[in-house]
Amino acid sequence: MVIFGAGGDLTKRLVVPALYNLGCSGLLPRDFAIVGVDLAQKTTEEWHKDLFAMTDQFVKASDPNANVNQSVWKSLTDGMYYFQGDLTDSARYENLKAKLAEIDKQRGTGGNYLFYLAIADRFFGTVVEKLGQCCLASQRDGHWRRVVIEKPFGHDLSSAVALNRQILKVLGEDQIYRIDHFLGKETVQNIMMFRFANGIYEPIWNRDRVDHVQITVSETVGVEKRGRFYEKTGALRDMIPNHVFQLVAMTAMEAPNSFHADAVRTEKAKAIEAIRICGASDVPCTAVRGQYGPGTIDGYEVAGYRDEPDVAPESDVETYAAMKLIIDNWRWSGVPFYIRTGKRMTKRKTSIGIRFKETPAALLRSTQADWPVPNWLVLRIQPEEGISFEFGAKMPGPVMKLGQVKMDFKYEDYFGKAPATGYETLIYDVMIGDATLFQRADNIEAGWRVVQPVLDYWSLHLPKDFPNYAAGTDGPPAAGELLRQDGRSWRAIT
Ligand code: BG6
Repeated sequence: MVIFGAGGDLTKRLVVPALYNLGCSGLLPRDFAIVGVDLAQKTTEEWHKDLFAMTDQFVKASDPNANVNQSVWKSLTDGMYYFQGDLTDSARYENLKAKLAEIDKQRGTGGNYLFYLAIADRFFGTVVEKLGQCCLASQRDGHWRRVVIEKPFGHDLSSAVALNRQILKVLGEDQIYRIDHFLGKETVQNIMMFRFANGIYEPIWNRDRVDHVQITVSETVGVEKRGRFYEKTGALRDMIPNHVFQLVAMTAMEAPNSFHADAVRTEKAKAIEAIRICGASDVPCTAVRGQYGPGTIDGYEVAGYRDEPDVAPESDVETYAAMKLIIDNWRWSGVPFYIRTGKRMTKRKTSIGIRFKETPAALLRSTQADWPVPNWLVLRIQPEEGISFEFGAKMPGPVMKLGQVKMDFKYEDYFGKAPATGYETLIYDVMIGDATLFQRADNIEAGWRVVQPVLDYWSLHLPKDFPNYAAGTDGPPAAGELLRQDGRSWRAIT
């Protein structure tokens, strides 16, 4: 495995702890080796030391008394080499190639190479081209070459199409693993199991019984130290065409013919392709943006977005985005999907709420029952992972009254809690060549196609009311209007 961006945050915080976890589960190949490539001059020992500190932090985060398993760490680091190199320097790729051949010889590694691009997105195309030029990307003699590409994959539709074109000149689609880390979350993967491995849901999972769907990805964190990145990105680009659309696709897709990667990805692409592309004049009643001002989170006062480091004092960048999606297909006709995501909101919460239609229960009108009681099926993606079903039940007593009750399943109660970064499954899948949880070129482009009119409209019509929500609240009031115009309201985030 060659990690480009060996000294970066992603490598330290997620990739290496995930490799360590795979090592603990005995899921790394015996002849596994890692070469970390980065610009800084450092020794392999210095690199190991940095990585150990972060892995130790990761282990202690779930249990302060736990320690890194020394024998797993040793067997991992025994095969980890640091390689100083400039990503744009062709000569260094030749040196890298020689280094890989040397390691292959020394350690008897199999000759399969996994290139992990944990680097700034502007280098994705260049690195793939350079790998191609020095023949490191060509699969020969039964040896595979796979490339993992992180997000953001493009900044808009045209840049995503251009990047796909550029890398597909060098690699086959089957060699490319575009990561969306949401797909590494167990609860996201479970959406398909929940829907397709249980017979009772499919008959009601459609326009006949579902009134609408709400998907919420709210965060309490602000932009932290990522002001520079976020100023170019904003909430819509950062979260919607990738993470949120993965949740939409998993909820809306048809049952695939099998769990084969292409069968699943084809159904997901079809779901996103069915989302109606809005025209410029529809954007104001289809999409809402917001930016947080100062406020209070968990009892602490926090700064507004414009006061965060590396953010312009008059910034127009959105930290909240909501959209109403119309899925123009047979299953979902007339069932809107409302999605929202934001930073510095009341609570950290990712959930999918399915609101079922009401009964035509005219008989209840003559009672004191507080009718209708909404039926909600809620898939809690994180935290407090679980699934609940909310329904009405008769309250005990002589008077006919209805109460809202809840059946609740918590993952932890059944399956315990194992410390995981979410990258374990994804890295393992790349190694075994299973691309089910990775984005195909058409999946990525379909997502950008839907948000492009909103990006265009927002860039032409700058917001006049930013900041329009206080940190520690549920987002801007206009987001409520998006549902109110349809006679609906958001579920409370708290
Ligand atoms: C990242 C975004 O892709 O996902 C971040 O760039 C966001 O802005 C993060 O905070 C959310 O992921 P998670 O796993 O913490 O919910």
